[in-house]
Amino acid sequence: MNAAIRAVVRTALARNLKVTGIRRGYQGMIEGDFLPMKSSDVSGIIQQGGTILKTARCKEFQTTEGRAKAYQQLIKAGIDAVVVIGGEGSFTGALVFSEEYHYPLIGIPGTIDNDIFGTDYTIGYDTALNTVVEAIDKIKDTASSHGRIFFVEVMGREAGLLAINSGIACGAEVIMIPESDDDRQQLDRFMQKGYKNKETSGIVVVAEGDEVGGALKVAEKVREQYPEIEVRVSILGHMQRGGSPTAKDRVSATLMGVAAVQ
Ligand code: F6P
Repeated sequence: MNAAIRAVVRTALARNLKVTGIRRGYQGMIEGDFLPMKSSDVSGIIQQGGTILKTARCKEFQTTEGRAKAYQQLIKAGIDAVVVIGGEGSFTGALVFSEEYHYPLIGIPGTIDNDIFGTDYTIGYDTALNTVVEAIDKIKDTASSHGRIFFVEVMGREAGLLAINSGIACGAEVIMIPESDDDRQQLDRFMQKGYKNKETSGIVVVAEGDEVGGALKVAEKVREQYPEIEVRVSILGHMQRGGSPTAKDRVSATLMGVAAVQ
């Protein structure tokens, strides 16, 4: 997100536009938490994870009253267009707001889930994917040395792309995602045919939103059915949402930032 902010600020300044940062997303928009931005404010941030503007999940923006306050703040500050960087929630908010107030907003898709309609890519995804792959590679060392099955939970409440692609990249035995309901059968097949003895190990990648539940639930079911097999669970959690972005993310974010201003 920082790479996108940097690109938006510098592209706009180069075109003699004034740039104002809105802190903490829609929450800051409602509260008028605005910050005039100059080129040096975005120096040295392209390699940093997170966002210098901070962010928030804002319930108030989901209400008509909240959006009315936000609109008043934008008008008061003389802000006449907004670039929104975010995922599904941010995009939904932007759409409703633009329809309600006929106000120009443009979205830069940014989420580790890569699940925004109408774009092949959302910034942050490649970084998260590579973080997951690195983690699973490390977990595989224990799995194969001890002949264990590991259930690795990756993020994705409603989207299985992180799970699918990390699973493919790591050669996982089974991948369980919210979009498919036959993955439980895949797991059974692996347990019955694939896992033979202590010489075998296995990685099962489970998206947190899988319909069976997360990795803990899936592992619990396997433990009940196969008490003789050693099973472990590893939940990767928020390490997937941070860290220095990959080159692909920096470049994509930069191109999207430039395009948003254009
Ligand atoms: O929506 C993006 C996402 O990264 C999901 O994959 C994940 O479930 C969620 O955010 C985590 O959000 P929070 O930190 O608010 O729990």
